[in-house]
Amino acid sequence: MSEQKRILITGAAGFLGSHLCDRFIAEGFHVIAMDNLITGRLKNIEHLFKLENFEFYNCDVSNFIHVPGKLDYILHFASPASPIDYLKIPIQTLKVGSLGIHNCLGLARVKKARVLIASTSEIYGDPLVHPQTEDYWGNVNPIGPRGVYDEAKRFQEAMTMAYHTFHGVETRIVRIFNTYGPRMRLNDGRVLPAFIGQALRGEDLTVFGDGSQTRSFCYVSDLVEGIYRLLMSDYDQPVNIGNPDEISIKDFAEEIIKLTGTNQKVIYKELPTNDPKRRKPDITRAKEILKWSPKVSRSEGLKLTYDYFKTLTPEELREVDHYNFDKYIK
Ligand SMILES: NC(=O)c1ccc[n+]([C@@H]2O[C@H](COP(=O)([O-])OP(=O)(O)OC[C@H]3O[C@@H](n4cnc5c(N)ncnc54)[C@H](O)[C@@H]3O)[C@@H](O)[C@H]2O)c1
Repeated sequence: MSEQKRILITGAAGFLGSHLCDRFIAEGFHVIAMDNLITGRLKNIEHLFKLENFEFYNCDVSNFIHVPGKLDYILHFASPASPIDYLKIPIQTLKVGSLGIHNCLGLARVKKARVLIASTSEIYGDPLVHPQTEDYWGNVNPIGPRGVYDEAKRFQEAMTMAYHTFHGVETRIVRIFNTYGPRMRLNDGRVLPAFIGQALRGEDLTVFGDGSQTRSFCYVSDLVEGIYRLLMSDYDQPVNIGNPDEISIKDFAEEIIKLTGTNQKVIYKELPTNDPKRRKPDITRAKEILKWSPKVSRSEGLKLTYDYFKTLTPEELREVDHYNFDKYIK
């Protein structure tokens, strides 16, 4: 019998990290989950605690990290990911994208593990090329409010390629476009949970700007499949994973109103600074190299996500921000 593979997942208690834990457990891996719970929550992974092939380290990846025993793979997903989060904790965001990945790559080098990093469509900034291919270098304002996230992720890619080139570490880079599904936080500032939360609380849906800006939403199981395939592939260049089915935010708000059967209206507020106007992945590379394309339609994915949000308690629905960021800010 072949030896059980061991994988470290940072950011494991978050939305995507927890789904990745589920997938790698289902694939028979020993999963070492790491998180400092700054934006994640144990509720997302508590169902795994009873398993022998699962362990959890409450640890800040931006500090020194150590894992005893062998390691075959590292997935670096730790990072505040929503605009609300990274605007509140900008320094932590920059640290986890720089010191955090440095620690992961150092560990990978010692353990001879393969590293996959969670990069993002945000590295393209407010794109001047549409749809965005991996060859596009982006249009980012380094000192704008979103710069802390975008530049952390761009640095993370650069550091990862440097370890690959100079130390021969096996690396993979996934550029994730907006992903949604169960375990997102209702009030993390991302448009999809924001709309569903407003609909469930009987509030009007807030659109920023005139709503003509576009997004394309990928259901979480599709993303996880793409990540799994990339990790197992021998491809070391960045790969976009996302759903190219583009929709304007205005039309999306109408879809949510229809889905939730509410009588709420759409109200308009000023567009935040540097908000990208168009966002749509070119997934030719993922199709060709990974034989991957998204399978879950927006209507199916939205229904599954809405069903999840309906299970939340009234307290959870009202919760505006249950994170005590102050305790993390030094
Ligand atoms: N969800 C998306 O649509 C999307 C899109 C592009 C990229 N990403 C990337 O995917 C990753 C996960 O995003 P998510 O949506 O699951 O966000 P999330 O906030 O739900 O999860 C991030 C997790 O990282 C943890 N974390 C943050 N800083 C840490 C640190 N210093 N040490 C240890 N743990 C830390 C948080 O506590 C949280 O559990 C992030 O790197 C994000 O940038 C997500």
